[in-house]
Amino acid sequence: MSTENSASGGAAAANGTANNRPPHIEVRDLTMAYGAFVLMRDLNFTVRHGDVFVIMGASGCGKSTLLRHLIGLMEPTRGEILYDGVNFTAAPPQEREATLRRFGVLYQSGALWSSMTLAENIGLPLGEFTDLSPREIREIASLKLALVGLKGFEDYYPSQISGGMQKRAGLARAIALDPDILFFDEPSAGLDPVSSRLLDELILALRDSLGATVVVVSHELPSIFTIANNSVFLDAETHTMIARGDPHELLTHSTEPRVLEFLTRGEPPPNSEKAHG
Ligand SMILES: Nc1ncnc2c1ncn2[C@@H]1O[C@H](COP(=O)(O)OP(=O)(O)OP(=O)(O)O)[C@@H](O)[C@H]1O
Ligand SMILES: [Mg+2]
Repeated sequence: MSTENSASGGAAAANGTANNRPPHIEVRDLTMAYGAFVLMRDLNFTVRHGDVFVIMGASGCGKSTLLRHLIGLMEPTRGEILYDGVNFTAAPPQEREATLRRFGVLYQSGALWSSMTLAENIGLPLGEFTDLSPREIREIASLKLALVGLKGFEDYYPSQISGGMQKRAGLARAIALDPDILFFDEPSAGLDPVSSRLLDELILALRDSLGATVVVVSHELPSIFTIANNSVFLDAETHTMIARGDPHELLTHSTEPRVLEFLTRGEPPPNSEKAHG
């Protein structure tokens, strides 16, 4: 396996976060399996504070499965995951619970409750995890909706708003508890290019306003090159990672054909004209 590392401090440096902090997320020798079927083995990568980290790879390679491991919905077959230098995989239930509360998650399916209004959807985690009064919860829900451009839509049901608006409402719910880490599974899937770009801008703005780290599954190249400063590439053929680091640097420096093919949609990379001349 050949892996490639980003040399840049990226967003972490831009955010002024200290370099001597432990990585926000560290994945060590992770093997993921469904029963006897080993999906990925020997995953090793780190995510720094303030990074926008993208999980890349072809459909079915295991991106959503990796996300499930990161948020504690699945247990590693081998290896471990650390948050801020603390072993999450080996932690006792109470400690894990405390870590999980610092996460905001937007699943691939969006998954708002259709029988609840937007304000009720966003209030759900607040009711579950805080001692706030119903009135305070309603106020925070309104604030979060305003942050994603849905001011005034508190009493709408998910079926009464567009798909793009549902995505943003899902985002509002993911940030309800002011998370330290935001996990998104293909947030822009099904959106038109302009809505998709606006969602990217929103993700970056939320990252900055919350001071959060973002982990996002995506195979939308414009989105990857706009938001990401760090990544891992999962390869279905070899069942392991074949690249990591800043996608911009992978595009110019990777020697892995499947990584280049993915990052260029199979077209020659921008710096290769001479090679073809
Ligand atoms: N609950 C499950 N039980 C058994 N196998 C599963 C399960 N969920 C997923 N898989 C298998 O694991 C593989 C990876 O699935 P996963 O959903 O992680 O892929 P992905 O990279 O997110 O794909 P996509 O880009 O299409 O969302 C697939 O081959 C899938 O069939
Ligand atoms: Mg998936």
